[in-house]
Amino acid sequence: KTTWKLADHPKLPKGKMIAVVVLDGWGEASPDKYNCIHVAQTPVMDSLKNSAPDRWRLVRAHGTAVGLPTDDDMGNSEVGHNALGAGRIYAQGAKLVDLALASGKIYEDEGFNYIKESFANNTLHLIGLMSDGGVHSRLDQLQLLLKGASERGAKKIRVHVLTDGRDVMDGSSVGFAETLEKDLADLRSKGIDAEVASGGGRMYVTMDRYENDWEVVKRGWDAQVLGEAPHKFKSAVEAIKKLREAPNANDQYLPPFVIVDESGKPVGPIMDGDAVVTFNFRADRMTMLAQALEYEKFDKFDRVRFPKIRYAGMLQYDGELKLPSHYLVSPPLIERTSGEYLINNGIRTFACSETVKFGHVTFFWNGNRSGYFNSELEEYVEIPSDSGITFNVQPKMKALEIGEKACEAILSRKFDQVRVNIPNGDMVGHTGDIEATVVACKAADDAVKMILDAIKEVGGIYVVTADHGNAEDMVKRNKKGEPLLDKDGKVQILTSHTLQPVPLAIGGPGLAAGVKFRKDVPNGGLANVAATVMNLHGFVAPDDYETTLIEVVD
Ligand code: 3PG
Ligand code: CO
Repeated sequence: KTTWKLADHPKLPKGKMIAVVVLDGWGEASPDKYNCIHVAQTPVMDSLKNSAPDRWRLVRAHGTAVGLPTDDDMGNSEVGHNALGAGRIYAQGAKLVDLALASGKIYEDEGFNYIKESFANNTLHLIGLMSDGGVHSRLDQLQLLLKGASERGAKKIRVHVLTDGRDVMDGSSVGFAETLEKDLADLRSKGIDAEVASGGGRMYVTMDRYENDWEVVKRGWDAQVLGEAPHKFKSAVEAIKKLREAPNANDQYLPPFVIVDESGKPVGPIMDGDAVVTFNFRADRMTMLAQALEYEKFDKFDRVRFPKIRYAGMLQYDGELKLPSHYLVSPPLIERTSGEYLINNGIRTFACSETVKFGHVTFFWNGNRSGYFNSELEEYVEIPSDSGITFNVQPKMKALEIGEKACEAILSRKFDQVRVNIPNGDMVGHTGDIEATVVACKAADDAVKMILDAIKEVGGIYVVTADHGNAEDMVKRNKKGEPLLDKDGKVQILTSHTLQPVPLAIGGPGLAAGVKFRKDVPNGGLANVAATVMNLHGFVAPDDYETTLIEVVD
């Protein structure tokens, strides 16, 4: 049984108001013109770094430090916020799926056996992000699943692809589609009827999140389930190449398409009796589709037809909602998060971001758990994001509104912790628009200023950090760190996250004079932040938490 009571910190007082600020997509990298944080005017973040060397440091935010398979895996918001909130490092979806595939356990568990019932007489549909980014899904896992399912009786397989260009280079979808179509051709040569059935760009088709825009999911539904889309092609490679020819087209925003046969009929709508697997392991951008596929009662858009299917997620995406009810691999069981401990020790908590990152500071922070631990002590505020635009058009996003809400919460003195995510560096960084990302970074810095000023007014403490890198490096580089050029001599824009460490700064009038960063945890990562914050609230973290990064010198 969990003992929720935390021990008192021997030296640090209770009752200080703490602002925890997570800058999304804000890493530390060498200063050059592709480092938008460096190019932007960011006086507040600069002064945190330069004016208090004992209270500014870097922490690891990628790879094994956040539970990913290898140190070549860039960080992402899911694993970053999980680590920040949980204070421990959990093997994450990418790794759990790798292990289940390697051992073959995936084929023995309930989820696979459930969908297998459909193999003899019906189609197996696989829907997900076609990418090797390792953030939401991985192509090699899809390839193994195709092989495994076909060896275990799947006779007719349809793949519904979403093109990436966000976690990987724009344009890479062509190569992924070629690889996938070759695999499907191999399966056909073995007598299995396997084809791509539909597709579309992830940001325009299917992979919305936090209910920002259900139209995105509907476009996918029409193509995947109903077999209806504005564009029809004979193959996925042809579709992607053609659709990319349109002015300003990119992988993230390709319009939906269906693959049709000689007679113009879609090759793979989802029908009664079929099996469906959404092969993304990451939750945030799959739960909306999961609801549409699973819920009998559903009013987010007109599904037109609701096929009776056997549906399984690669993982269960929401443990509270038990969504979906069938899944191939069990998600990491993240328990006893810092949020839950602090609530149980009376820390009144306020959390806020705009829609596109709201679940990050709530759901991911709390170990993939939705809702409040104790609604009397908590308030979560979501500021509606602009929808239907790409964020380079509106690079300031809702940074100032988030800043304002945080200030109100701080000045109200009704809370002990005020936690926000400021999304600009990440969301605008993903568009690959360097000028807009510079504007985004300045807006984020302005929001930090507002929060730090409010903290000053109430005599509180601030903790400023980030979940992973993005805006600090906007170009693909060779091993020596030099920008890579494409065949036309243009630099290759990097829309994805990075492997860079992120800053961690503490300060404010409420911070006891002797507090500084320890020198003996040089490899500290995001998971060390939870124990650090617990200390600042006047508590000692549980024993199994990653160690605190601060010490108090007398
Ligand atoms: C996305 O989902 O937008 C990207 O794949 C990852 O971004 P995030 O991890 O910062 O949310
Ligand atoms: Co991101």
